[in-house]
Amino acid sequence: MPQTQNPRITQHTLQHLKQAGQPFACLTAYDFTTAQLLDQAGIEVLLVGDSLAMTLLGHPNTLSITVDEMLHHVKAVTKGATTAWVIADAPFMSYHVSLEQGIANCARFIQEGHAHAVKIEGCTPEILALVQRLVAIGIPVVGHLGLTPQAMLSLGGFKLQAKTTETALTLIQQADSLAQAGVCALVLELVPVEIATLVSSRLSIPTIGIGAGNGCDGQVVVIDDLLGRYQGFHPKFVRQYMNGAVLTKEAVSAYQADVRNRAFPNNQTEATPMNAETYAEVLKQLEQAEGETHHAD
Ligand code: KIV
Repeated sequence: MPQTQNPRITQHTLQHLKQAGQPFACLTAYDFTTAQLLDQAGIEVLLVGDSLAMTLLGHPNTLSITVDEMLHHVKAVTKGATTAWVIADAPFMSYHVSLEQGIANCARFIQEGHAHAVKIEGCTPEILALVQRLVAIGIPVVGHLGLTPQAMLSLGGFKLQAKTTETALTLIQQADSLAQAGVCALVLELVPVEIATLVSSRLSIPTIGIGAGNGCDGQVVVIDDLLGRYQGFHPKFVRQYMNGAVLTKEAVSAYQADVRNRAFPNNQTEATPMNAETYAEVLKQLEQAEGETHHAD
């Protein structure tokens, strides 16, 4: 029987899920193998987040990652994901210098990286203009409000946003503006539960929450946080489903012990022994050759 492939998830699938009141899952993915596993597990949306600057490359924040570095990972993830909708995160300064440069950089994620959408943070007049142009070109755009890590220097760190009346009203108005400009989904990061739920009910497009409570239409988590691999910090909103750091260290220590005891590799099952007669012949000919050298001396 030929294997039937699930149809590709699109922004329209997420829209239908929202209408049906069915929350969907999004996880970050940065490499082919992880993307393949998450895709096979049926995760609807994969985000090649610029969080990879921290979790994968060890930077203290997301500010120093470039378009070329992000593209490297986007290409790997899109190869591994046959069903999931893949969003590429446009990195810091890739869409802030000019409208033209923003369009060109975002287009690279579609054209070269084969992503299905790009995510950009914030809601300035320039961002709104960029969203409109990208959508007009045919590039689906995901917005990102609340804690926008690319603005962490001016926000003063990774802190809850929209917690006062004034900042909450600003966020609600920005969400409306982004939706009007044409974003097809909106990430809400680290905002109070009530505000994320309110925005989700006001908008017809799906919201994707992180640290924003369960009233959003979907949830996103950084994969290394979920698997308990990233040891930088442990935000309150992350639920660890596996202690990856401990499991990884246990596995590599077991391997090291096996190497030290010569228990790895097993010569029969994890290596290839030679045919006994051939090996005997090797030894015989070696002995002869060495004997001849002796005589010549
Ligand atoms: O870069 C990222 O992983 C993100 C998510 C945390 C939303 O932007």
